[in-house]
Amino acid sequence: MYEIIARTAWSLRRAERILIITGAGLSADSGLPTYRGLGGLYNGCTPEGLPIEDVLSGPMLGRDPALCWKYLAELGRACLKAEPNAGHQAIAELQRLKPQCWVLTQNIDGFHRAAGSPPERLIEIHGGIAPLFCQSCGAESDDLEGHLQRSLPPLCTACGGVLRPPVVLFEEMLPEAAVERLHGEMRKGFDAVLSVGTTASFPYIVEPVLQTRAAGGFTAEINPTATELSPYVDVHLRGRALDILSQLLSHIAGD
Ligand code: APR
Repeated sequence: MYEIIARTAWSLRRAERILIITGAGLSADSGLPTYRGLGGLYNGCTPEGLPIEDVLSGPMLGRDPALCWKYLAELGRACLKAEPNAGHQAIAELQRLKPQCWVLTQNIDGFHRAAGSPPERLIEIHGGIAPLFCQSCGAESDDLEGHLQRSLPPLCTACGGVLRPPVVLFEEMLPEAAVERLHGEMRKGFDAVLSVGTTASFPYIVEPVLQTRAAGGFTAEINPTATELSPYVDVHLRGRALDILSQLLSHIAGD
């Protein structure tokens, strides 16, 4: 493992434009549940006998806000109870060392921001769990913790409308601004792409890796198991994101 970490660090040190793609596996080291695989949120149905993808969907939020919010609240509580880990910090450190290092995250926990990643180089493609906003009048409320201690669904104090987080639920479109920024940066190309803790279940996650590889850039993956991406990356670092990212940064920072 030492050799491939040294090789990955060498490639990242030489790269100018870097994209780090992150998924639930990065926050698993903070104690947050992943979605697929062992113990994943999506394995199986809810006690109501519905797949979680149906319950955490835009149509369900409209049809039965209390049921949808029952599971949104679980995600919210998990995020509020946890905090960024050394993996998030290592990524923020790399972004400080490399002014053209971007993060494309599927995570809604807000941990990249909290760890110090610059928001102007952070693409939150699935939105975030906070701040809540009213679906009727648009009023914002950043008191997620308070709302989770009261009855659900949370209602707007101004108009009584149902509040929701700015997260992309199933059957909803990705945020246009985030998609535009991703496409804009992909058009400039990347020298290196590092995929961290994701099953790469979506084309917009796989595409940057394949495009960078086709253009002769360096591609790597940090994941304890193999994924869709594994056959296409130059290096698969098998292990926990927290451990491997910390080791990578100590090589890159040269300490
Ligand atoms: N370090 C690195 N990777 C890990 C760790 C860890 N400590 N623990 C688990 N993993 C890996 C798993 O092997 C798996 O490949 O993290 C990945 C988690 O995959 P998913 O649960 O599918 O999460 P993700 O890829 O982020 O899902 C993408 O799907 O439904 C959407 O919105 C949801 O953002 C989520 C998206």
